[in-house]
Amino acid sequence: MSRPSEPQGGDVAQAQAALQQMSNGYWATQIIYVAAKLGIADLLKDGPRGIHALAESTETHAPSLYRLMRALAGLGVFRENEAGEYETTALGRCLASGSPGALRARTILNGEDWYTGWGGLLHSVRTGETAFDHIAGRSFFEHLAANAEAAAVFNEAMASSTEGAARAVADAYDLSQSKTIVDVGGGTGAFLAGILQANPWARGVLFDRPNVVAAAGGLLTRAGVADRCDVVAGDFFEAVPGGGDVYILSWIIHDWDDDRGVTILKNCRRAMADNARLLVIEQVIPPGNQPSLGKLYDLHMLVLSGGRERREDEYRALLAAADLQLARIIPTDVPRSVIEALPR
Ligand SMILES: C[S@@+](CC[C@H](N)C(=O)[O-])C[C@H]1O[C@@H](n2cnc3c(N)ncnc32)[C@H](O)[C@@H]1O
Repeated sequence: MSRPSEPQGGDVAQAQAALQQMSNGYWATQIIYVAAKLGIADLLKDGPRGIHALAESTETHAPSLYRLMRALAGLGVFRENEAGEYETTALGRCLASGSPGALRARTILNGEDWYTGWGGLLHSVRTGETAFDHIAGRSFFEHLAANAEAAAVFNEAMASSTEGAARAVADAYDLSQSKTIVDVGGGTGAFLAGILQANPWARGVLFDRPNVVAAAGGLLTRAGVADRCDVVAGDFFEAVPGGGDVYILSWIIHDWDDDRGVTILKNCRRAMADNARLLVIEQVIPPGNQPSLGKLYDLHMLVLSGGRERREDEYRALLAAADLQLARIIPTDVPRSVIEALPR
C-alpha cells in the first residue's frame, strides 16, 4: 500500500487536500456499499438501464437513486451514457454477484458490520475495549452465529480473499511431503480447497464452528476436493482435531488478544505429533514508518474482535508460550506470510 506523498516546501493547500481526501474516505465506503446492497451491478449486467427502471427494480426513491448513481459515475463505478441511461464499468463489474474476488460481499461488510466496529475506534483507543462488542452488545463471532445473512456475507468475503492467498501459500511453501493438512478455523473451506488442489496427494480436515462448517460442503464439492476432506465442527478454544502432519491457522491468531491466541496455539500443539508443523498465515508488521496494510488491519482487529496484527518478535513470543518455536517466515505474493512453527 502507499500513502499520499508528503507536500514539499510547506504547501498548506496540498496538505489540506491530502488530509481531506483521507478524512472523507467513508463517503465512498457508503456510496459503494449502497450500490452493492441494492444489487445495481447485477441489474446492469445485461445492458444499460434508465433511472426509473433501476428505482423500480430496487424499490428506491428515483430522485435520490439518481443522485447516488451520479456520484457513482463520478467515482467511475458506473457511467451515464448519451441516452441518459446507466451502464457498468470495469469497477462496476467487480460489484456483481459471483464476480471473481466477490467484492460485493466485502463491500457490504465494509458498509455494515465492519463500519459498525470502526464507528467505535475512539472508544477502543480510549479504553482498549473491542468497539464492536461495546456497540452491538455481543462479540462479532456471536453476532455471526446469530445472524445467518451476516454470516453468509462474511463467509463469502473471507472465501474470496482467501482463494488467492491459498494459491500464493501453495506456491511459496512446499507441502509435497504432507499427508494430512488440518485447517483450523478454515471457514467454509476456500483456503483448504486451494491447498488440496495444489497438493493432490494430500488429505484435509476442515475445522470451524458448527454454523460455519454446515455451509462448507458446496465449496469443497465445486473445488473437486470433497472426497479428500473431512469436515469437523468444534471450538478451537476447547480442542482441535488430531492426526495432522501440517496444521494451518490462516487469519486466526490476528482475531484474538495474546491470551486467547496462546490458548488456540496450545490446543494446536496438544493435537500435533512431535514431527508435525504449524503454519500461521498472517501479515507480519514491518518496523518503522513504512506504509503497511497490516498497520491498518491491526486497528481493524482492535475494533472488531479485540485482536491485533503482530511483529515477528511478538509471534516468536506467542509461539514460545505454547511450546512452539518460530522456524522461519516465508513471504508470499499476497500480503500474508507463512510463519512456520515447530514443536520445541
Ligand atoms: C477471519 S476468519 C478466517 C477464515 C479462514 N481461515 C481464512 O483464512 O479465510 C476466522 C475464522 O475463525 C472461525 N472461528 C471463530 N471462532 C472460532 C472458534 N471458537 N472455533 C473454531 N473456529 C472459530 C470463524 O468462524 C472464521 O471462519
